[in-house]
Amino acid sequence: MTLPLRGRWNALLQSRFFLDATAATGAENGAARTWRPRPRTFSTPADGDAMLRSVIAGTGSYLPEKVLTNDDLAAIVDTSDEWIRTRTGIRQRHVAAEGENTSDLATQAAEAALQAAGLKAGDVDAVLVATTTPDYTFPATACIVQANLGVPAGAMAFDLQAVCSGFIYGLTVADSLIRAGQVRNVLLIGAETLTRLLDWADRSTCVLFGDGAGAVVLRGEEGQGSNADRGVLHAVARADGRYRELLHTDGGPSATGTVGKLRMQGREVFRHAVARIAEAMEEVMEQAGVSAQDIDLFVPHQANVRILDATARKLGIAPEKVMLTIAEHGNTSAASIPLALDAAVRQGRAGRGDLLLLEAMGGGFTWGAALLRL
Ligand SMILES: CC(C)(COP(=O)(O)OP(=O)(O)OC[C@H]1O[C@@H](n2cnc3c(N)ncnc32)[C@H](O)[C@@H]1OP(=O)(O)O)[C@@H](O)C(=O)NCCC(=O)NCCS
Repeated sequence: MTLPLRGRWNALLQSRFFLDATAATGAENGAARTWRPRPRTFSTPADGDAMLRSVIAGTGSYLPEKVLTNDDLAAIVDTSDEWIRTRTGIRQRHVAAEGENTSDLATQAAEAALQAAGLKAGDVDAVLVATTTPDYTFPATACIVQANLGVPAGAMAFDLQAVCSGFIYGLTVADSLIRAGQVRNVLLIGAETLTRLLDWADRSTCVLFGDGAGAVVLRGEEGQGSNADRGVLHAVARADGRYRELLHTDGGPSATGTVGKLRMQGREVFRHAVARIAEAMEEVMEQAGVSAQDIDLFVPHQANVRILDATARKLGIAPEKVMLTIAEHGNTSAASIPLALDAAVRQGRAGRGDLLLLEAMGGGFTWGAALLRL
């Protein structure tokens, strides 16, 4: 499939080559490798300069039937509803049934998103599943979802692993694929059965997470290169592997031959979260030339209500503009943003033309933000 504006690809390649060469020279000289934002001429053209945009054509989500309340948890570990609510904002979380896998949750969410977009499985060019809890080490969960939905053979399908930042990473990748003219319709899904990675004897982590899936259909549409365009206006994905021990699993296929359990130094993660998230949000707003007052709805990763309050305060986003689902969902990792986004759309809190700001941070550390117009 050939889409217009392909000529821009060459310009992007050239600027990439130049920047990579510069980075390599710095490393050879032993210079401190401090990351600086790179020029983004490709994604922020002058007003009136036509370009491809990745427009959200439909959203969908799915939550497993079983609900685990804070009181249910207090019966198995030394905790209380009061502690969990006041420290995290969580009241309950959903837990997948035995035999219900990440691909099952992802398939349900994807079907709802396709229906909302008025598209069929046959229209999909790529399936991306952001997950840390794939059904199997391989094949990719996305391939299982492709087969479940009946997305045609030959479509692209792969998983993407950036823990709680998975949906933001997926959005940047899908947006790049669309704008490069590689694909037109992308099914981007965040899906997790994160409760399967929990140590149910560790009260500092087992109370935080839940299972679920959310999906969006992204469609390539021509825009005018201005902030009035529908679609992804700017997105950034960042990482700093020096902090990987603060939030990790203690097993994996290569290291131990096991899946492992989630381990976290919560207080340390909290300390980094607000600064990193705010930094990424400020970057996307600055690149797109908008301010916090322009945002119609803030749809963050739902990790801790105190992190979200602090971030919104720091950026001057009014509390009523913050989409919160953490009380009902808990932290569903890569699924949390698309779950919150679908809830916002279906509750009428976000509609066509609204400017949305998304953010996430997770293990790695990974983090990122995206600014988009519905
Ligand atoms: C996990 C988190 C809620 C803990 O809250 P906190 O205020 O930092 O609490 P601390 O870890 O300092 O622990 C305070 C006390 O509560 C206790 N505690 C921890 N979990 C508890 C629980 N579920 N119930 C009751 N007490 C608990 C601790 O043992 C500690 O007791 P102590 O003072 O006697 O040692 C918080 O650090 C957090 O949300 N961090 C970020 C997590 C996150 O966002 N992770 C995902 C990123 S995607």
